[in-house]
Parts: sequence; C-alpha cells; structure tokens
Amino acid sequence: MAPCMCFSFMKPVMIFLLICVFATCCITSSFFAIILFLVFIIIPIVFRYSPSLQRGMIFLNYVRMPSSVNYSHPEMYGIRGTRNFHIKTNDNMTLGVWHVLPRNLLEKYEDDNSTYEQLLSHGEPIVIYMHGNSGTRANEHRVQLYHVLQDINCHVIAVDYRSYADSTDVEVSELGVVTDAMEMFRWVHKRANGTPIFGWGHSLGTGIGAHAYSLLEKEGLYPNGLILEAPFTKMSDEIREYPLTKIHRLLPWFEFFIIEPVEKNNIIFDTETNLMNTKMPILILHARDDIVIPYQLGEKLYKHLLETRKNVNTELVLYDKHFKYGHKHICKDKELGNRTRKFINESINNSPQ
Ligand SMILES: *[C@@H]1O[C@H](CO)[C@@H](O)[C@H](O)[C@H]1NC(C)=O
Ligand SMILES: *[C@@H]1O[C@H](CO)[C@@H](O)[C@H](O)[C@H]1NC(C)=O
Ligand SMILES: *[C@@H]1O[C@H](CO)[C@@H](O)[C@H](O)[C@H]1NC(C)=O
Ligand SMILES: *[C@@H]1O[C@H](CO)[C@@H](O)[C@H](O)[C@H]1NC(C)=O
Ligand SMILES: *[C@@H]1O[C@H](CO)[C@@H](O)[C@H](O)[C@H]1NC(C)=O
Repeated sequence: MAPCMCFSFMKPVMIFLLICVFATCCITSSFFAIILFLVFIIIPIVFRYSPSLQRGMIFLNYVRMPSSVNYSHPEMYGIRGTRNFHIKTNDNMTLGVWHVLPRNLLEKYEDDNSTYEQLLSHGEPIVIYMHGNSGTRANEHRVQLYHVLQDINCHVIAVDYRSYADSTDVEVSELGVVTDAMEMFRWVHKRANGTPIFGWGHSLGTGIGAHAYSLLEKEGLYPNGLILEAPFTKMSDEIREYPLTKIHRLLPWFEFFIIEPVEKNNIIFDTETNLMNTKMPILILHARDDIVIPYQLGEKLYKHLLETRKNVNTELVLYDKHFKYGHKHICKDKELGNRTRKFINESINNSPQ
C-alpha cells in the first residue's frame, strides 16, 4: 500500500517537473531562435546598410586602450629617449607622433629633445611604424617592438593616423589613413638626408603601409624596404577568413550583405595588387597560431609577391605554434632584432642608390 501512496504523491511532482522541462525547452529554443535571427538576419542587414558600422568594425578607432594616455610622457609607457610631437598633413590633419632614438644615441642626446629631429640624418636607419586597428601608439605590444628596434640602433617613428589617439578626429577611411602614412614618410624623407627609411606595418597597418608605400614608389620616393607583420592579401579575403565571420560564410547572402558593402564603402586594402611590381625589399612575419589573420594569408601574399616581383628580395618567416606569439606578440621573439637588422643591412647594401 505504502509504495502506491508514495507514487500517487509523486505523480503531480513528476507532471510539474515535466512541465518545467518543457517550458525551459520552449524558452531556450525561442531564445536560440532570437539569437539566430539576430546573428544571421538582423546583423547582416544592419551591416550592409551602415557604412559607419563597417568602418567602425574594421578600423576600431574608437577603441582606446589604454584609455587615458598622456602622449607627452612616453617614458610613462616604458620607453626611453622618446619625443612626442605633431605633424600637419597636406589636407590639414594633425597627427600625433613618437620619435624613439636608437640606443647608440641615447647616452649623448637623450636629455636634449631639441636635437632629435636633426638626428634623423645622423645615419642610423629609420623605421616608420604603422600600427593595426584599435588602440594607439602607446599600446604595450607596440612599445615592446619599439624597444626591439631601438636596440638594433634604429630610429622609430610611430604615428597615429587620423581618427586615432590625439590625431584629428574625423571620419576614418582607407584613403585618409593611407594619406597619413604617405605624409609621415614625406616628413621623414625631408629630414633624413639620404638616411635609409623602412616601413613596418602590423595587421591592418600592413594594408595601410602597402598601399601608401606603393604610391610613394610611383612618385619616385623609394622606401628602402617594408616589413609586414601579420599581413593579409586583401580586405575581402581577411573578412572571409576572420573566425567571427566564418559561420556567416555558409550563408548564401554572405557576399551580398558583408563583402560587397565593404568594397562599395571603399575599404579594399588590396595589398596583393598594390605591392605587385614594386621594387622595395619585403620581409613578411607571421605566427602560425594567429587567429585574427590566419598565417595562410601571409603565405599566400608571399607566393604572390615572389611570382609578380623579379630580382628583388622577398622573405617570409613563419613562427611555430609553440612560441604562442599569436597576432600581436612576434615582438617577443629573441631573434627578431637580429633578423630585422640583417634584412635592413642587406636592403641597404643592395639598394640601387
Ligand atoms: C600630461 O602631462 C603634461 C606635462 O606634464 C601636463 O601638463 C598635462 O596636464 C598632462 N595631461 C593629462 C591629460 O594628464
Ligand atoms: C622636451 O624636454 C623637456 C624637458 O625635459 C620637456 O619639458 C618637453 O615637454 C619635451 N618636449 C618634447 C616635445 O618632448
Ligand atoms: C588648410 O588650412 C589652411 C589655413 O588654415 C587653408 O588655407 C587651406 O585651404 C586648408 N586646406 C585644406 C585642404 O583644407
Ligand atoms: C645578435 O647579433 C649579435 C651580433 O651580431 C650577437 O652578439 C648576438 O648574440 C645575437 N643575438 C641573438 C639572440 O642571436
Ligand atoms: C648591420 O650593420 C650595422 C652598421 O653597419 C652593423 O653594426 C651591424 O652589426 C650589422 N648587423 C647585422 C645583423 O648584419
């Protein structure tokens, strides 16, 4: 008798539990339905019809990390012998710049920042650093790279493009940031008095540098070389390979909603085509565990450059996964300094001038 009573007591509880389970299923499945609807329908539509959202997602210029940088105190960010200044572009933009002295000049000149500008013609190679999207010239992984370049006795010129950091706050575009990279080069070139000038682009900065430096070559200003850290072939390839868009790629409307509008919005960054037939030596660095820009894109760019550029040095260095350099930390490679300096020396020795 007793088990039976117990069972009849259990029955409503079971029914209640079943109802609960059913309700939870309904709620979670409608929750998933809403998420799916958002992710696959609403976001692509908003993306297609909002050029400012496209620009925002690609340039991430509103992401300011660290948030309150005092650019006039580079030493607070751990870098010695650095001067903060601003340049004006031909279209009236003000750009914030840091100039890092080479190590061999620190002892003598570090304390007198009025000499820094003249020292650009002292003979040590000059590297113009073009950062990737988000943040500023003060970001930690960027400062780490300035250290590497300072230690191999190079000047570093690190510029923030328009709409980034303390540079003029305007609507960002490929044309705008490419103009800034060209203007920075011209500013340095006027003061270098023949001292070799190299470009270093990281991530989105590789697209900016490649575009700008190919145009400079067409103007007859020959950069001595270009270093591309974690580059991509062109923006549409990068969007297709980017992990967060990978699920969208399966959808038949991917090209229509994601790729086409970005191209119509003139965000092309066609590094493959821009660097075709260029004469400057190029060094590509890419980590195999880069999940932001897969190394296959760097490798593809390298093969394309080998095929389309003759009699000019093109190098590729791929870093194994176990180093864990990822997208931003090739600067941790202990051999990076020597490797870079070797590339710089060879480029100078082989240059036609
Ligand atoms: C940055 O440092 C300068 C000079 O020390 C100071 O005058 C200025 O107020 C500081 N700016 C900010 C935003 O803290
Ligand atoms: C140059 O150094 C002086 C003295 O240390 C400092 O007050 C000034 O802000 C520096 N100027 C620049 C452009 O870094
Ligand atoms: C830049 O500003 C100067 C003076 O402020 C002005 O004469 C010139 O037309 C401006 N140029 C552009 C491209 O806006
Ligand atoms: C880099 O090169 C210098 C001299 O060329 C050498 O002394 C140093 O050991 C090298 N460093 C590494 C990490 O290979
Ligand atoms: C590159 O050239 C500089 C200056 O000529 C020299 O001091 C340095 O040892 C060279 N470094 C490498 C890695 O070849």
